[in-house]
Amino acid sequence: MKNISLLRSLYLLPVLLLVAISCTDEKAGTSAGQTDVSKLVKQGAVIYEEKCLKCHGENGQGGICPNLVDGKWKYGGTDEDIYTSIAGGRPGGMPNWDKELGDEKIKSIVAYIKNLNTK
Ligand code: HEC
Repeated sequence: MKNISLLRSLYLLPVLLLVAISCTDEKAGTSAGQTDVSKLVKQGAVIYEEKCLKCHGENGQGGICPNLVDGKWKYGGTDEDIYTSIAGGRPGGMPNWDKELGDEKIKSIVAYIKNLNTK
């Protein structure tokens, strides 16, 4: 039995090595700035799905609440406008998130929404 599991781990070794190599390659291909932004966008996506999706729909497509990717903004579409909409809420039923999420998380959601709008 011991021999078999040893054999198995030997088979796994090249696979693990390959994974490790492809991961480092990916990092080498992008500049530090890009990595920072995509990290932020990914973080924002996770929070969006947890907190915002139920109202604003998948990928900001809208649902019971406004679409966030059609280029039309009731309260403005600059980073600052979107930040203000999220942090302070808006009168038509948009809750404020400043207390629950804080500055850093809200910034990551702004990055995520901006990223959706460039697609
Ligand atoms: C309970 C439902 C609900 C949730 C949850 C919610 N929103 Fe909203 N949101 C709304 C409604 C309704 C509006 C429209 C408010 C208005 O017209 O005054 C809105 C407006 C907005 C706007 C302004 C859109 C524009 O046209 O200017 C942004 C940006 C936004 N929401 C982002 C978010 C983000 C990001 C989250 C998650 C942190 C979120 N919302 C969570 C209901 C929600």
